[in-house]
Amino acid sequence: MPNQRNNIVNHTRTQLVELLNDKEFVSGEFLSQKLDVTRSSISNHVKALNELGLDIHSIKGRGYKLAKSIDLLSQSQIIAALPQYAHLKAPQVIVENIVNSTNDVIKLMGRELSQGSLCVAEAQTKGRGRRGKAWVSPFGASIYLSMLWRFDSGYQSMAGLSLLVGLAVNRALIRIGLKDCQLKWPNDIYHQHKKLAGILIEVEGQIGEMTTAIIGIGVNVNLPNKHLAIDQAFTDVSTALSLEVDRNVFAAGLIDCLWQMLPQFQKNGLAPFMNEWERADLFADQEICLISGSYENKGISRGIDSSGALLMEANGEIKAYHGGEISVRKA
Ligand code: BTN
Repeated sequence: MPNQRNNIVNHTRTQLVELLNDKEFVSGEFLSQKLDVTRSSISNHVKALNELGLDIHSIKGRGYKLAKSIDLLSQSQIIAALPQYAHLKAPQVIVENIVNSTNDVIKLMGRELSQGSLCVAEAQTKGRGRRGKAWVSPFGASIYLSMLWRFDSGYQSMAGLSLLVGLAVNRALIRIGLKDCQLKWPNDIYHQHKKLAGILIEVEGQIGEMTTAIIGIGVNVNLPNKHLAIDQAFTDVSTALSLEVDRNVFAAGLIDCLWQMLPQFQKNGLAPFMNEWERADLFADQEICLISGSYENKGISRGIDSSGALLMEANGEIKAYHGGEISVRKA
């Protein structure tokens, strides 16, 4: 779909969700008048939103209703929850509705954005995960956030960034009361052995020059009660806490943690954060299997080093493993 038409369609879909939110059944006729589109087009938009993971009930003669109301993301609510940064030349907080991927939004705007600027969106149609996987991104159900951070001295100064970001997510979860999450190297967040959040960092720049990191974070918050095509055990924050979570409050807390921790990391690297990471390490001193393509290697997990590499002991020797394409599972 060409971009401009895409924007119009996404705008109409967002208005439709706003008209349905917090209401009993709303008739197709009312919606078509309000949005200035035909009734059959309303029905197509509803179908598309259902495919994006939103539960909209439709009953002949009564109209449409959201299965449960949602707290839509709000730029003003997020900014209001970050008063400690009001005096700074504030990084931009961009709130979008339906995007391909928040990482792409930041990538496209990169040059115009100041340090720490970010995008959050209600839904992603092409959310990306690590190792070429898709990130399932239902509407209004999670946090999809991408933040831009520039590193003056290139790739080396970014060593361990993904672990630092995992810690920032964990701190934000602790702030809303979820205190027992664990981190799986390099950057997954688990609760009771189910995946709760993931991180995808994409990097632009030449070796030795200024490097731009696009830090993409997906946190499952209030996932819909329907089948989701996720190929591993997963959970969300509201299940883990047994209460509904306000995504604006959580997003603001996460942004605050990132804005506090990234400058410290840029100055001192991962070293000051290693103990905190090791306290949350899912596989500490356990037998693990490292997987990289068709290559598998077993050993005992022995924490991390200050560059963020995983330390694994095998045959009486501890070796450091780097690399975005490696994954780890319990042996
Ligand atoms: C993973 O665990 O595989 C990483 C998932 C990263 C998902 C986030 S959601 C926001 C940002 N936009 C994307 O397309 N991906 C990241």
